[in-house]
Formats: sequence, C-alpha cells, structure tokens
Amino acid sequence: MSSVRKRVLVTGGAGFLGSHLCERLVAAGDDVLCVDNYFTGRKDNIAHLLAVPHFEAMRHDITHPLFVEVDEIYNLACPASPIHYQFDPVQTTKTSVIGAINMLGLAKRLKAKIFQASTSEVYGDPTLHPQPESYRGNVNPIGPRACYDEGKRCAETLFFDYFRQHHLKIKVVRIFNTYGPRMHPNDGRVVSNFIVQALKGAPLTLYGDGNQTRAFCYVDDLIDGFVKFMAAPEAVTGPLNLGNPVETSVAELADTILQMTGSRSPLIRRPLPVDDPTQRCPDVAQAQSLLGWRPTTPLKDGLARTIEYFDKLLANSRVLEHEPAG
Ligand SMILES: NC(=O)c1ccc[n+]([C@@H]2O[C@H](COP(=O)([O-])OP(=O)(O)OC[C@H]3O[C@@H](n4cnc5c(N)ncnc54)[C@H](O)[C@@H]3O)[C@@H](O)[C@H]2O)c1
Repeated sequence: MSSVRKRVLVTGGAGFLGSHLCERLVAAGDDVLCVDNYFTGRKDNIAHLLAVPHFEAMRHDITHPLFVEVDEIYNLACPASPIHYQFDPVQTTKTSVIGAINMLGLAKRLKAKIFQASTSEVYGDPTLHPQPESYRGNVNPIGPRACYDEGKRCAETLFFDYFRQHHLKIKVVRIFNTYGPRMHPNDGRVVSNFIVQALKGAPLTLYGDGNQTRAFCYVDDLIDGFVKFMAAPEAVTGPLNLGNPVETSVAELADTILQMTGSRSPLIRRPLPVDDPTQRCPDVAQAQSLLGWRPTTPLKDGLARTIEYFDKLLANSRVLEHEPAG
C-alpha cells in the first residue's frame, strides 16, 4: 500500500537544529530520514525518536553521494560553531560545497524541494545594520572563518544556479544566532559557554569589552520559520533572514545568565577573536511579510529552558563521571 506521508530527508539531523527539526516533522506526520556523520551531532539528540516507526537515522557523510528516495530535503549538515568548523577547515568547505552539490544532485534526480541552512555569516563583519537580504556582505576570503563563510556563500551560489539552470524548487534561509536545548556544551558559542560556566561556578569568558551585540533567536521560533518557509509558494526562494531582531550586548547576556542561575562566577576578559563581528542583527521584514513570521519567545523564557537542559546534562555527566567501572 502506498503511503501518503511526505518523505523528508534532514542532513545534520542529529545536530542541535536538525534534531529539533526532525522532532517537528515527525510530530507533523512526515516520514523522516535523518542523515548525519556525528561530527558534532550526538545520538542522544535523536535517541527519543528512534522508537517512532516513521523516523530513521543513517550514518553518512554528505561529501559522498547519497541515493535515497524522498520528497523534500533539508540540508543542515555542517559544523556551525567556530571551534568545530575551524578544527578541519578543508572538511568544512567540502561539507558546504561538495555536500551542497551532492544534495542538489539528489534533489534534481528526485524533483524534490530542497532547503539550505545558510547563515548570517555570509554577511561577514557587516558594515550595514540591521542586515537586509540585499546586503552583499563584508567577508574576508582568506581568514580563519572563511572555510565556513565562503563555503556557505558558495553553497548559496550553487542553489541559485540549480534554480536558474535546472529549475529546482529551492529555499535558502540565512540563520542568525539561535540557542536552546541540545546546543553542544563545548561549542564555544556565547550562550552555551556562559550557561555552562555559570552552572559550574567557573569564570565567564567575555571577549572584547562585551559591548558587541548579538540577536538571539530561540530554537522553537526558528523551526517554525523553517517549516513555514518550506510550505511557502514556489516563487518564495529566499535568501531569507530568520533570526531575532532584538539586539542584546554580550555583557548584558552574561549578567542575565548570572542572575538566572544564581551563580557567583566572576567575569574574565579576553581579546576579541580574529574577524569576530562587532554587531549582527537581522532585518526580518521579508520573513514577516512573506511568511507572517517573527520570533515570539522572550529571551528570559528561552534561557530558562536552555539553563534547565544544561543543568540536567551536567548533573548526568557528573553521575557518569562517578559511576564505578564494570
Ligand atoms: N545554530 C545556529 O545559530 C546557526 C546559525 C547559522 C547557521 N546555522 C546552520 O544550521 C545548520 C545546523 O547548525 P547547528 O547549530 O544545528 O549545528 P550542529 O553542529 O549541532 O549540527 C550540524 C550537524 O551536521 C552534522 N555534519 C557535519 N558535517 C557533516 C557531513 N559532512 N555529513 C553529514 N553530517 C555532517 C554534524 O554531525 C551535526 O549533527 C548548519 O548548517 C549551520 O551552518 C546554524
């Protein structure tokens, strides 16, 4: 008997955003295939889905061709934090570029709709605030962040060339800073760094003077945007900014997290990393007018859920650390 369920491939499905997306698609009744090489993704992120009959996980590296039958593809595979994408920069570029070529080839063969998780990093260290989609960016092509920024820019190029040349149905989203449960505890991103440091009573590392701003979007809001974008008419291809337009300084974030965790951790200052943007904030007017989307979760609510997640994670890892061997 043929199934009416949509078959959806999520690459990077065991990662932070990918696992939330898989969860959302399974709940919507889709048949979900999660593909991941577990470089930064964790089996724990999808363990709760493995018992669901319409969820399947497959270990695969998207720099190699993949032959499966699906109706839609969400291409999220790529390490997202500087610590991870700079660990093996050549592999990062390969994942973005060769991975995109492989997934676009698959979409072409299957006539499947394909979504690309691009990034605000395509704007580099922007000279225009907030950044609209029409801004072409200020990117250093040879710096330590280039493997990610330029890899993602090239992936966007490929998506739009497949769109023009092969008439593929594409959706390209530029994601701004997103946080929430299942972020990697050691990924060096500011929200997870501060929460883990505060919960452990360790000093909070503040890069630069702390006046640099970020705009933090809660993961559930972002996933709402993904799903709405994928369901939008074919002419809505993006690139489309998704993120929270409310700016918070890094120093303010540190204070809020210290207050919410009740931690007495001190702050220690370190120099700003190379090419670290001083300000980053999305213009989400397009997402609002085309999808009726805007983030609704207040920072404190999202932080409370994220702190709860890390609190449990740290408590479990302490239990594991003290478990007798055998
Ligand atoms: N989280 C954010 O704030 C943010 C912001 C901008 C863009 N993005 C983009 O969203 C996507 C997901 O990010 P995330 O925060 O969930 O990061 P993540 O590191 O948690 O997830 C990435 C996933 O891709 C997998 N992966 C990496 N290389 C792979 C390969 N070659 N083949 C198969 N799987 C591979 C990893 O194991 C991991 O599960 C990424 O493409 C990232 O660039 C995220």
